[in-house]
Amino acid sequence: MTMKRRHFLRIATLAPVAAAAANPAAEPLPPVIGPYLQHPSPGVMTVMLLTKGDGEVALEVNRGGERTVEGTAIPGCEWTVWKSRIEGLRPGAEVDYRVRWKQDGAERFASPVHRFRVPDATAETSRFLVFNDVHDHLETLAALLEHVDDGDHDFTCLLGDIWNDPSPRNGAEVVFRTLDALVRGLDAASKPFFYIRGNHELRGGFKDRLAWLFDIPALDPAAKFDEQNWWHSHRIGPFFLIATDTGEDDGFHTPKDSYKRPEFWQGYRKRQVPWLEKLVGEKAAGDAPWTVFLGHIPLFDPASWHSDPSREFWRPVLTRTRIDLMLAGHDHSWKFVPENKPFELKKTDAEGNPTVESFTPEWPILIGGGPSIREGTVMKVKADRRGLSVDLVHTSGKVLHEVRMKA
Ligand SMILES: [Fe+2]
Repeated sequence: MTMKRRHFLRIATLAPVAAAAANPAAEPLPPVIGPYLQHPSPGVMTVMLLTKGDGEVALEVNRGGERTVEGTAIPGCEWTVWKSRIEGLRPGAEVDYRVRWKQDGAERFASPVHRFRVPDATAETSRFLVFNDVHDHLETLAALLEHVDDGDHDFTCLLGDIWNDPSPRNGAEVVFRTLDALVRGLDAASKPFFYIRGNHELRGGFKDRLAWLFDIPALDPAAKFDEQNWWHSHRIGPFFLIATDTGEDDGFHTPKDSYKRPEFWQGYRKRQVPWLEKLVGEKAAGDAPWTVFLGHIPLFDPASWHSDPSREFWRPVLTRTRIDLMLAGHDHSWKFVPENKPFELKKTDAEGNPTVESFTPEWPILIGGGPSIREGTVMKVKADRRGLSVDLVHTSGKVLHEVRMKA
């Protein structure tokens, strides 16, 4: 029998963020967010911490003495981000760590001892959770976490539109409140999360600074917004994960002068092609039995035409390798798109005339819902060499769809 997970979210965070922001009596954010884990690779892990204000942060690993952690003040808010990459760990081993924050010589925070398992590309089994389209609705996140048990995940994938048009208002209070809820709710001190951007995270005055919250290999948080590279890939246990950034929800029809800047985003999607070609050419999946493609906007979508540019640019590369499953969000209502089964989509052609186009996806696609309680879902993904399964779980706890694959 599985023990019910302890609930990491405090009651105060269950209220919608909008209510908290509107109510000056709402509980203020704690002075510390984290620690939380990022960028897991075989034998390597990043520990991050956010503090209100600067000072000094020390990290102790396996009770082996403290090391100083580098901090950077995030521009335009009161938060300092601290980031330490721990290397040379034995894959599969358990590691203990703790962090301490001092200001002017006085201790402001000492974390408990946390423990994580070092990522291992040869692990027999692995499990992860996928959340999409939370749009800062922490009540939906909390409702989904009611149905997550301790054994359900080794890591989490945040599949876009977790934040809604990140705003710098009030020190980007909503941005950090959502991060705090995620870090505690996902047990991110022990289990890392990956982040993949959605179209709503490309809007809002804080969009250029969101990069400071993560450790993504090709992403320089200090780079200008247009020069940031958010795509990444991971080899963990039986999974090879390709995490793309599908950009805005523009399409080839979007007027060039739209705030959605279709010309920029088409170039941004093209910037990911050499990276995808490298993954395919170098057989980066290695001996991983399962390759999962992750992108906020589904590459085939019976509900919209937002997929066109990413599909057109990436499909010629992706069809040269084996992809077992695509996971996506964006639509706000869940759906499963089977492989090799044609569907039709009503569109408008370049002259503005209605037309119908037919599509046949090469890969099965599972699309999660959100952000309302009525639509919210979490995906529970697990695999070993023999099989891969996904349960798509609703806020009510009902399993809405099951994917079952055999090697
Ligand atoms: Fe969304």
